[in-house]
Amino acid sequence: MDCIIRPETPDDYARVHEINKLAFETDSEAVLVDGLRQEAQNAISLVATMGDDVVGHVLFTPVSIGDTNASPATMGLAPLAVHPEFQDHGVGGELVKQGLDACAAAAAEVVVTLGHPEYYARFGFTPAVEEGVSYVGSDYDSFFLIKELVPGTLEFFQGEVKYHRLIEEL
Ligand SMILES: CC(C)(COP(=O)(O)OP(=O)(O)OC[C@H]1O[C@@H](n2cnc3c(N)ncnc32)[C@H](O)[C@@H]1OP(=O)(O)O)[C@@H](O)C(=O)NCCC(=O)NCCS
Repeated sequence: MDCIIRPETPDDYARVHEINKLAFETDSEAVLVDGLRQEAQNAISLVATMGDDVVGHVLFTPVSIGDTNASPATMGLAPLAVHPEFQDHGVGGELVKQGLDACAAAAAEVVVTLGHPEYYARFGFTPAVEEGVSYVGSDYDSFFLIKELVPGTLEFFQGEVKYHRLIEEL
């Protein structure tokens, strides 16, 4: 069955919490999503449905690269979760692809994420350190990834990424 990606609505909140808790096997990400929904401005929150079921979720929140007042328009992808019973059916891939399209439509120029390099490479993410972009020093260099939505943007911007306070505190 194909999945359909659409913006999250209030009716989805409880199911999105459950999916994040099951996918990550702890409630940290589920609680994070609930907090970001309250606090983060201009977030993009999408769900994947199969039939009548919501089976996956992705959240993008604005972040900055380098000087917060001179950063390119950048979104941080976190978290991405697919219900364990629905993994390996392309749902995560559709959430990322359509999420990137939604970020581009919202005029984002760059997207970053902390994640599995082999998984995100298929969507065009590369190591951020190669572009001079990092997250809290060098500890995450192997997992901190970046993708330009507007080619050439990163020629002019480098430095440390700052996420929303709730993600930084995780
Ligand atoms: C990672 C996740 C979102 C992928 O969702 P999904 O719907 O299962 O992914 P898709 O069906 O689109 O893609 C499956 C492919 O991704 C690969 N993949 C899944 N998890 C991976 C990982 N951690 N590292 C590398 N590859 C991974 C699978 O091997 C499969 O590869 P194939 O296409 O070559 O067979 C899902 O497994 C999940 O929710 N995991 C737990 C939470 C998590 O780790 N979130 C991401 C944080 S980076």
